[in-house]
Amino acid sequence: MNQASLPPIIPADAPDMAARAADMIRKGRLVGLPTETVYGLAGDATSSLAVARIYAAKGRPSFNPLIVHVESPDVAGMHGLFSARLEQLAQHFWPGPLTIVVPARPESPVAELARAGLGTIALRVPAHAAARAVIKAAGLPLAAPSANRSGQVTATRAAHVAHDLGAAVDLIIDAGASPAGLESTVIAEIEGKIVQLRAGALPRTAMEAVLGEAIALAGVGKDGPLAPGMLTKHYAPRARVRLGARRPQAGEAYLGFGPLAFVPEDGLVTLNLSERSDLTEAAARLFHHLRLLDDQGASAIAVAPIPATGLGEAINDRLARAALGR
Ligand code: TXA
Ligand code: MG
Repeated sequence: MNQASLPPIIPADAPDMAARAADMIRKGRLVGLPTETVYGLAGDATSSLAVARIYAAKGRPSFNPLIVHVESPDVAGMHGLFSARLEQLAQHFWPGPLTIVVPARPESPVAELARAGLGTIALRVPAHAAARAVIKAAGLPLAAPSANRSGQVTATRAAHVAHDLGAAVDLIIDAGASPAGLESTVIAEIEGKIVQLRAGALPRTAMEAVLGEAIALAGVGKDGPLAPGMLTKHYAPRARVRLGARRPQAGEAYLGFGPLAFVPEDGLVTLNLSERSDLTEAAARLFHHLRLLDDQGASAIAVAPIPATGLGEAINDRLARAALGR
């Protein structure tokens, strides 16, 4: 990161925050935007130039489509075609950490580049007050991937955005640590079934309770992964990651969950995702803790077993990817 070229960071509660961010976005510039899930790198979704800047800033393979953030379910309906069941989930969980992939409406002004040329569009109505204020002030749909460089640990604080993207982002809004700390859950309807393309901040069980039916997990389709962004090398810290570890081996730092099952030796670098075994707290801390252990120079990180229930599904998904390395 080049210190000299850091973008301005303004607090989310600054009176002119939304106006400044909206002004940047209307000029085709990029804003580091807090949401309830993670920080987004937001730009005008109707401008292919702004969308191209997002891909360039992230160093992202251009076949990876972006989520389009809008102000309400009604506006989402102007960009995509919702089946009755997807509409039901949208009404129930929006605003919130749910992304819904639907066929794009031909009249939607969203740039084809934001969809990476696909016939479908990923839509989300965020709940975070700062994100909502900026969408409203800009009067535009915002394309916003997570504000980290492609393949790296997701940004959950303004400082992570500045560190990863530097001058490639024009303004960063600081709202502190992201409340959820995990990306949104991504779903679609495929051959009449609701399918989860990416585990995320909204547990699958919560959606199943509303639908009254099971939601399947997406596998890999005949044309590659169903959610193109689910590259296996996502979320990789520099350090090697070993999962399901009840105790660290020599030379490893330790990322705990719940009470430690061993007595730590002097000099062991250890952090805990949640001393009280709370999955919500663990999700909120996950990416920040991985970054902290990386920053302390750990060459290997052993991670405690995490239950796979509720939010644990998404946490284990991200950890499994982190363990595959860069
Ligand atoms: O919480 C979040 O979702 C954050 C915040 C900023 O909203 N955004 C985010 O975006 O995580 P990104 O670009 O890192 O992840 C987008 C995910 C990828 O897995 C991508 O493949 C999937 O959504 N996606 C987007 N459009 C799609 C489409 N048309 N079909 C299938 N998957 C799609
Ligand atoms: Mg991402």
